[in-house]
Formats: sequence, structure tokens, C-alpha cells
Amino acid sequence: MMDPYRRHIVVCTGGYCSSDRAGRALYAQLARLLHREGLLFGPSRVKRSEVPCLGVCAGGPIVVVYPEGVWYARVTPVLLERIVVEHLRDGREVSEAVFHRL
Ligand code: FES
Repeated sequence: MMDPYRRHIVVCTGGYCSSDRAGRALYAQLARLLHREGLLFGPSRVKRSEVPCLGVCAGGPIVVVYPEGVWYARVTPVLLERIVVEHLRDGREVSEAVFHRL
């Protein structure tokens, strides 16, 4: 049995949406932020994944959060920290950075 996750955050680490593949550094930063905010265990547990492409291929790095189905564009390290604190920890989307919703 696996403990349930509250949310799943997916980071594109590909080179088409972000020519310098900035998603790779974001993915490493994400691990530190999830640990700092206490989101690796317990009822607020968050699953972290990286993918080579999310099919957008522009305006990256692209980050997606489920189960809300919220897609963020042009994610910087500062914006990623806001996504972790405001969305993943506190449940409030960073609406000005959202470009798509499922
Ligand atoms: S390479 Fe990031 S969305 Fe395609």
C-alpha cells in the first residue's frame, strides 16, 4: 500500500518550451521546497515528477498541478516558490501565472 498524495506537480525539463532547459534546475529546487514546507509526508503529501515534454513547447518552463489541472507558464525560481507555498501548501492558485486549466 502507498500513502495517498494530496497533489501531483509535474515539471517539464525539455528544451523546446525553455531553450536553456531551466526546468531541470526547477525540478531540483522543487525537492528542497517540498521538504522545507513539510509537503513530503502526511496528509498534504505532494508527488513530484519531471517529464521531457508536456505538449506545449513554448513559454516554459511549464509546470502543472493536479488534481486542479492548473498549468503554469514561464516558471522562474521565484514563481516556483510561490506555487509551492501558495498553491501546494495553502491551496490558493497563483492565478496570474496560469495559462490553461483542464
Ligand atoms: S518541451 Fe516543455 S512542453 Fe514541450
